[in-house]
Amino acid sequence: MNCRLSGTALEVVLDLGNQPLGNGFLIPEQFEAEYYYPLKCGFAEDSKLFQLIEQPAPEMMFHQDYAFFSGTSTRMKEHFANFANDVLIKGFLSRDSAFIVELGSNDGIFLTHFAALGIPHLGVEPSGAVADVAEAQGIQVVREFFSTKLARRILADHGPADVIVAANVMCHIPDIHELAKGIALLLKDSGVLIFEDPYLGDVISLTSYDQIYDEHVFLFSALSVQNIFATVGMELLNIEPQRTHGGSMRYTLGKVGRGIASPRVREILSKELAQGLHKTRTFVEFAQRVQESGSKLRELIETLRLGQKTIAAYGATSKSTTIYNYAKIGPDLIDYICDSTPFKQGKFSPGAHIPIVSEKHFRDSPPDYAFLAAWNHEYELRAHNQAFMDLGGQWITHTPKVKILV
Ligand code: SAH
Ligand code: TMP
Repeated sequence: MNCRLSGTALEVVLDLGNQPLGNGFLIPEQFEAEYYYPLKCGFAEDSKLFQLIEQPAPEMMFHQDYAFFSGTSTRMKEHFANFANDVLIKGFLSRDSAFIVELGSNDGIFLTHFAALGIPHLGVEPSGAVADVAEAQGIQVVREFFSTKLARRILADHGPADVIVAANVMCHIPDIHELAKGIALLLKDSGVLIFEDPYLGDVISLTSYDQIYDEHVFLFSALSVQNIFATVGMELLNIEPQRTHGGSMRYTLGKVGRGIASPRVREILSKELAQGLHKTRTFVEFAQRVQESGSKLRELIETLRLGQKTIAAYGATSKSTTIYNYAKIGPDLIDYICDSTPFKQGKFSPGAHIPIVSEKHFRDSPPDYAFLAAWNHEYELRAHNQAFMDLGGQWITHTPKVKILV
C-alpha cells in the first residue's frame, strides 16, 4: 500500500486487528454477515501523513442510515455556534456575493447559523437521515460525496465560495488529491478553507488510539496539511487548537499570496518536529503504548468483574468500536452501553455485540462503574449524571492512562 499523497510505500506502524465498521450498529439477524476489515496504520516520512492501510468503501460507511448526529451534544452545538460567529466577525464573507459551503454538513449543526441569517450556503452531505434533519431546518443540501466533479457543478450553479468549512470530514476522505483540487477550484482567490479534525499530536500524547477507525483514513498534523495543500497552491494562514473530540486542530488556508500567516503556524510546526510527528519511530513507540493500554483496560475490567461489580459504558461511540474489538471486551465484561441517540438504542455495538440502551436505563439502574466511551464529552456526561456519582458510581477511562477517575 502506498501513501495516498506522495505515492511512496507505507511502513505499517500499528495493527489493531480485524475490525467492523465503527458506526455499524446492528441487530442480531445481521451478526453472521457482519463486515470486517484489517485495521492497520502506516506512515510516510515524505508526506508526513499518518493513514490507514486499507479503508472500507465510503458508501459502506456513509449512507441513509449513518448513525452519527452532530447535534447530540450541547457542547458541540455551542462549539459550532462559536465557530459560525468567528467566520462572521472575521469578515470572510463578501458583502455582495456571500457564499459559504460546508462539506459533511450532517444535521446542519453549523450551517443553521447562516441559514437563519439568510446567507447563501450549501451543505454537501451524502448521508440521508442526517441530511433530512438539516433540510427540515431550511438548510440547502446536496446529497453527494464531495469531488472535483461536484465542485465544478457547484461553481456553475452558485459561483465560487468565500469560505469552505469542513469539520470532522476531511480526515474521512481517502482521495486527498481530488479533495484538495476540488476545494481550490471552488474557492474564490480571496477565499479561505477552514477545517478541523482530531489532531495527531493529541492522539500520540494521550494514547487515544480510539480515534483510529474506518472513517478516519487520516489523522492530520500541521506538517501533513501543509504538504497536502501545497500541491494545489494553498498555504496555512492559521492553526488553532480545539478541545473538541478530545483534541482537534482548526486549520485556515488560503491560496498562496492571499495573506500573511499567523506566527502560530510556525510555532505549531516546530512543536510538531519536537514531538517527532515527522518520524516513523514516534509511531512505532505509540504502537507499544497502545498495546499496553488495551491490555490494562481489559485487566482492570476483568478484575472489577471478578469482584462482582457491574460495569456499563457511556456513549455508543464509533471510537469505542476500536477499543472493544482490539482489547476483546464484550458483553461478558460490559453489561450494556447507554446512548442518547434513538437510532442506536435497541441495536448492538459493532463486533463486540454489547447491547445499546437509553440513558434512562442507565439512570434507573446505575452500574458500579461506567466506562467513559464518550470521554471527549466527559464534562457533559458528569453534569448529566451527578446521581450516578452520588450513589458511589465511578468512571473508568483509558486516556491518557487506564484508570478509575476520582
Ligand atoms: N461536520 C459534522 C459531521 C461530522 S461526521 C461534525 O463535525 O459534527 C462526518 C460527516 O461527513 C458525515 O455526516 C458523512 O456523511 C459526511 N461525509 C463523509 N464523506 C464525505 C464526503 N466525501 N463529502 C462530504 N461529506 C462527507
Ligand atoms: P462522539 O464522541 O463521536 O461525539 O459520540 C458521542 C456519543 O455519545 C453519541 O452517540 C451521543 C452520545 N452521548 C450521550 O449518549 N449522552 C450525552 O450526554 C452526550 C454528550 C453524548
